[in-house]
Amino acid sequence: MPFDRSVKIAPSILSADFANFGAEIRAIEDQGADWVHVDVMDGHFVPNLTFGPPAVKAFRRHVTTVMDVHLMIAPVDPYIDAFAEAGADILTAHVEAGPHIHRTLQAIRAAGMKAGVALNPGTPAEAVEHLLDLADLVCVMTVNPGFGGQKFIDMTGKVRRLREMIGDRPVHIEIDGGVDPQTAPLVVRAGADVLVAGSAVFKGGSVDAPEVYGDNIRAIRAAAAA
Ligand code: DX5
Ligand code: ZN
Repeated sequence: MPFDRSVKIAPSILSADFANFGAEIRAIEDQGADWVHVDVMDGHFVPNLTFGPPAVKAFRRHVTTVMDVHLMIAPVDPYIDAFAEAGADILTAHVEAGPHIHRTLQAIRAAGMKAGVALNPGTPAEAVEHLLDLADLVCVMTVNPGFGGQKFIDMTGKVRRLREMIGDRPVHIEIDGGVDPQTAPLVVRAGADVLVAGSAVFKGGSVDAPEVYGDNIRAIRAAAAA
């Protein structure tokens, strides 16, 4: 997985048909997705439940790009090896999920994955200042995590600050929540390179009408490039 700062679109399968994940993953990849974003929720760190390591392992068989796993769970550390075994390429933990995020990021890398750290909207950029040499990705939440389809919260000031702090380090800035053709250019201009999008990619399409996914992905990419 060579590092680059080109814009990458990472559809969140939180907005896919939950009874048809394999076909949904193949459809978004065929239609131009760069990464596949997998939202793991525990009903404790966030007020919603999704899926755990066995499901993620089943998704892996269909992912040919990059499987980007976003943990909205606390604690994280007891599950790191299970997600490595499930085949996550990138494993992202929230800085708010526990007192020892430094240890968590080290453990993620030690398990052979890229390490991501996510910040809720209320958490300042400075919370990751001392973690940037341990992280491969910083995920800036532009909604309060837990659900797809929420309204974008403007975090462009935070993104700009992070971009400065990161400097030449090979660290991605990912935006998660409410990304669509209107909001994508704001965050890309501020320095983001990975755009997670759930509803804006899946809306109007299905595995029987996958070209809609392609149109939606191209619309976000075009807006981000403008
Ligand atoms: C929010 C999740 C997101 C979500 C984004 O808790 O982390 O990945 O699926 O969905 P949209 O793009 O619909 O805001
Ligand atoms: Zn996410």
